Amino acid sequence: MRQEDIVSMFDSISKKYDLVNRVLTFGVDLKWRKNAIKKVFGLIPKEAKILDVACGTGDMIALWKEMGKKYGRNLQICGLDPSSGMLEVAQKKLPDVKFYKAYATDLPCKSESIDAISIAFGIRNVLEIEKAIEEFNRVLKSNGVVLVLEFTKDEKPSKLRKCVDFYSTKLLPKIGGFLSKNKKAYEYLPNSIENFYTPRELSALFEKKGFKIVHIENFNFNQVTLLIAKKII
Ligand SMILES: C[S@@+](CC[C@H](N)C(=O)[O-])C[C@H]1O[C@@H](n2cnc3c(N)ncnc32)[C@H](O)[C@@H]1O
Repeated sequence: MRQEDIVSMFDSISKKYDLVNRVLTFGVDLKWRKNAIKKVFGLIPKEAKILDVACGTGDMIALWKEMGKKYGRNLQICGLDPSSGMLEVAQKKLPDVKFYKAYATDLPCKSESIDAISIAFGIRNVLEIEKAIEEFNRVLKSNGVVLVLEFTKDEKPSKLRKCVDFYSTKLLPKIGGFLSKNKKAYEYLPNSIENFYTPRELSALFEKKGFKIVHIENFNFNQVTLLIAKKII
């Protein structure tokens, strides 16, 4: 699939994205997201600039705001996504947030200006992933961090992981396709997980581009990985 086709697929499901997401994940992703943000708070200053890449409909930004308030943080948060449809929904939900229409490989930010980047369920869609990681490195301040939440491949899947994969490959495309009226988009999810990296391979890509992995955690029987990488070079 070409990068433009992936983006137009997100355009086509943008209006139903939030509904389908909550139904398919049963809302468990909220726990993973909050846990990830809390971990990053331990690594960045109280006053910080946050960039949410592949922000989609703004779920992660809403949580940065909520958690920032709860933990007394003074955060300046921006979102970025190449899909106009997803951005339109995000801007309606979060009218006071600044959103940019851009790719992860070409960030509209000054070098060394950002304290933390988050990319939740987004990096799998970026075809030029190494170029994106180089961009993350460019815009982050020294010791800045990247939070990645993503579906990853498992080298030796357990029986439970196989059950979760059965849900993702067989049931999810049917339910997602029915709710969004776009079956193809929800078939893309399991296929893209199958073609993505293992947590070890993903970590190696970050290390190659000047990051140190400071935290790695798996959820949902190793289907989802939280990786936190700190810029060291
Ligand atoms: C599964 S959604 C995740 C949205 C949001 N981060 C969330 O957690 O719900 C993936 C998003 O990645 C975006 N995307 C696809 N290709 C991208 C790229 N090359 N650079 C940045 N974002 C991209 C899509 O437009 C889509 O909004």
